[in-house]
Amino acid sequence: MTPLEKEVQRRRTFAIISHPDAGKTTITEKILLFGGAIQMAGTVKARKAARYATSDWMEIEKQRGISVTSSVMQFDYQQHVITLLDTPGHQDFSEDTYRTLTAVDSALMLLDGAKGVEAQTKKLLEVCRMRQTPVITFMNKFDRECHTPFELMDEVEKVLKIKCSPVTWPIGMGKEFKGIYHLQNKELCLFAKGSKDFERLLVSGPTDPLIEQRVGHFWYQQFLEEIELALGAGHPYNLEEYLKGEQTPVFFGSAMNNFGVQEFLDGFLAIAPPPQARATTSREILPTEKALTGFVFKIQANMDPAHRDRLAFFKVCSGQWKRGMKIYHSRLKRQIKPSGVVTFLAQEREAAEEAWPGEIIGIHDTGLLKIGDSFSTGEDLQFTGIPHFSPEHFMRVRLANPLKSKQLDKGLTQLTEEGATQVFRAIGSNTHILGVVGALQFEVIKYRLQHEYGVEGIFEPVPYAMARWYHGEGNNLKEFEARYAGQIALDVDEKKTFLCNSDWDLEYASQKFKGIQFFQNSDHLPV
Ligand code: G4P
Repeated sequence: MTPLEKEVQRRRTFAIISHPDAGKTTITEKILLFGGAIQMAGTVKARKAARYATSDWMEIEKQRGISVTSSVMQFDYQQHVITLLDTPGHQDFSEDTYRTLTAVDSALMLLDGAKGVEAQTKKLLEVCRMRQTPVITFMNKFDRECHTPFELMDEVEKVLKIKCSPVTWPIGMGKEFKGIYHLQNKELCLFAKGSKDFERLLVSGPTDPLIEQRVGHFWYQQFLEEIELALGAGHPYNLEEYLKGEQTPVFFGSAMNNFGVQEFLDGFLAIAPPPQARATTSREILPTEKALTGFVFKIQANMDPAHRDRLAFFKVCSGQWKRGMKIYHSRLKRQIKPSGVVTFLAQEREAAEEAWPGEIIGIHDTGLLKIGDSFSTGEDLQFTGIPHFSPEHFMRVRLANPLKSKQLDKGLTQLTEEGATQVFRAIGSNTHILGVVGALQFEVIKYRLQHEYGVEGIFEPVPYAMARWYHGEGNNLKEFEARYAGQIALDVDEKKTFLCNSDWDLEYASQKFKGIQFFQNSDHLPV
């Protein structure tokens, strides 16, 4: 193995997908504790509190500073370098949340065992499916009354259309939570509320009398029945299916009690894939190629709005980045020398000396970079799979002072480059329609337009609920565009989109114009 191959092999880049309150902050903190990235429990939690304590959402500079440091967390664990990318949830749910998933090699799906599959998880899993991202599942909060493991796995299979294969199995739950049994390791881990060190016992299999001795006759009988059923009727664990995103290994536990998290982490290291090959418009790039390549998947406005400097999150896809190195910017067709590059080691932004495939570096940018920009050492290439996602909320923006239209254009262009919003230009009327994934983004945009660009925007509701990129030909296309003239708009890349009011509207259009293909994101359009 070459040194580069070795470095690739030991890197894992992943994100956690979950619905708010499932326990993402809690499990992140436990994972970071294992990695030694934080010394004290409560650190991540405190940060989350700081993030949401301010009811005044206009205090965005502060918020931004906090979310920059928490968006990438890199740490070493058992000879591996693990990079955990945060998927913003709650109020800051935005297109960034989706786009982050285009930069990971695998994901952890965290479900609240009492709630099962919830709306946000469903949306995020759809994004994983686009790239066949392998997903491991953690059923959380088993220290409370939850749905049964069968109900939970059944729901995942039905709603998310991914096969479940349990790796651990819970014995009891809530007040009677006894522990978990590791099906592959044949290990019983006993739960004790409030404990830091859980007792682990190697057994000969699920029928080992030691299990009955430790969990009691009643719970043992139930466990035995369940495990027989699970092994008989369930899906046997299949690594290949996991790697193709068709099967998800399932772990049970309680993040708050740090119970079952070690099992997950060990399982994750054993099976989660290292950095994978990535498609570009011209060829596939292997992570072990010597020449550096990478792309920008996120841009975040920085702490000081007066300077308007931004931090571009650059994912290294192949080769090695070294401090001081020049990189070739494919869109601008020229070399640039990034300065002030940072890494995210142990949550501190530190000066980076080098970065390997799978890692994220932060590049200070003064307005040169856009989401999706690709870099190499000279080859012209454009990574694919970093699309625009359909917004779910739309507003028309008008100017309070019509003389400020230049500033509005500038502000919207920059906010679009950062991915804070998508701007659609309605064909014909030439009005700006803003589209966002999380409704709170409108507040952010309004505030930033005013404070950073001196523009007062008047936001007005429009009846759209989704954007669909489309493809069609000939008369059919002409007729479609004539029929829906008022609902056709250009996105930032001048691609035409159909702004529709509802699922019904879309369904009606697709029935009426059978030759037109509609796409949920801009990446699926035929080139
Ligand atoms: P999020 O980032 O996904 O939004 O969730 P977060 O970790 O903040 O957890 C949401 C709530 O669920 C928190 O309670 C947290 O303590 C609780 N929680 C997380 N994991 C478990 C678990 O394994 N068992 C139980 N019983 N609860 C869990 P909270 O009341 O909102 O906050 P706090 O007062 O506990 O800090």
